[in-house]
Amino acid sequence: MDLSTEVREAKSRFGIVGNAPALVAAVQRALRVAPIDLSVLITGESGAGKEFFPQIIHAYGSRKHSKYIAVNCGAIPEGTIDSELFGHEKGAFTGAIATRKGYFEEADGGTIFLDEVAELPLTTQARLLRVLESGEFIKVGSSTVQKTNIRVVAATNVDMMKAIQAGKFREDLYYRLSTVHITVPPLRDRGDDIWLLARKFASDFSERYHTPAVAFDENVAMMLSHYPWPGNVRQLKNVVEQIALFEAGNSITPEKLRSYLPEVTTSFTPAVSVDGSHSYASERELLFNMLFRMRNEIDTLRATIETMESGVPRDIRPLDEPEPVEEPPHSLVRYSPMPRLYPDSHAAHDIITESPDSGMTLEDTERETIRRALERNEGRRKATAVELNISERTLYRKIKEFGLE
Ligand SMILES: Nc1ncnc2c1ncn2[C@@H]1O[C@H](COP(=O)(O)OP(=O)(O)O)[C@@H](O)[C@H]1O
Ligand SMILES: [Mg+2]
Repeated sequence: MDLSTEVREAKSRFGIVGNAPALVAAVQRALRVAPIDLSVLITGESGAGKEFFPQIIHAYGSRKHSKYIAVNCGAIPEGTIDSELFGHEKGAFTGAIATRKGYFEEADGGTIFLDEVAELPLTTQARLLRVLESGEFIKVGSSTVQKTNIRVVAATNVDMMKAIQAGKFREDLYYRLSTVHITVPPLRDRGDDIWLLARKFASDFSERYHTPAVAFDENVAMMLSHYPWPGNVRQLKNVVEQIALFEAGNSITPEKLRSYLPEVTTSFTPAVSVDGSHSYASERELLFNMLFRMRNEIDTLRATIETMESGVPRDIRPLDEPEPVEEPPHSLVRYSPMPRLYPDSHAAHDIITESPDSGMTLEDTERETIRRALERNEGRRKATAVELNISERTLYRKIKEFGLE
């Protein structure tokens, strides 16, 4: 069987949806390495779909008829993890009323998946290194060395280099675990897969809940593909599940969809992937959009405050009256769009009213953002507004203001 047929088969066997080259490459790598007994480290953001990979590796390897045990290292309390993994002798600690086998003994001959491996305490890391190097381990409270034959596949969403530098993860163990490295790409980088997954999840959930199908408006696809999906496929699945439940039988417009998506600016994650590679273009794009939205929010806020102060809506204030310049009172700024970077509203305000060092003013940035979005959408205003997450009316006003007609 050639590799692409095998990839197709593995995808359908495990229910993996998507054709993005980076995802397909990851599946291919898993299939290649499966029959060779090497340790594999899976990295990728949370919710990206890492858990399929150890299963593929086990199912397509020579250990497929032996046990597969998945352990979430982050979910086991530090005090019991050694005993869970390696077992304990009777009387090793209070409550150890009988000898117990650990997962490494239990899964002898098979595969262990160590999820969230960066969460392992350093003492456990030492035991793990030993078992990887020599197949040897010792039960807690015992002095007898035992042998086991295990293949380890580990996963993490942590930047391991940082963890090593911070002294939280052993460098030698890292290299031992990552003989082969598989990277699962973030959802935001998977293009049309987002749309494919959304429709698949929508039909799955409608079927599961016996609810009438939802119909996505054509502009929804674009909005989905521009959302940064900090929670990746898990988040998309969750959003679509809610829509399938609460919008059963309805047509889903971008406006409706927006009410199910957390504010993109508050859930912003930088466009830096776990392997440290950078996508400057998409990062700049995100920053442009973010600045643009911040500006709109502040405009709205200003108008609200002005209305409150004068009792007259901003738009009908006499033209010759100077614009009020007061800062918005603190308590009103409920949605400071970047709470982590700019914890107080004044800082957020400053950064968008002053020119950045590059010499590009906010006006330039805004004009540039809109110009590019219009270009990408071939001048279609509705689509551009959706992409920028602003109303068509605002877009229209901005186009006039910047003379972009
Ligand atoms: N490509 C995909 N096709 C279908 N479902 C996916 C895909 N990737 C992830 N999922 C689903 O998304 C959820 C999160 O995946 P998971 O493997 O648990 O993420 P991770 O371990 O990387 O945090 C699971 O319900 C999984 O089935
Ligand atoms: Mg996981």
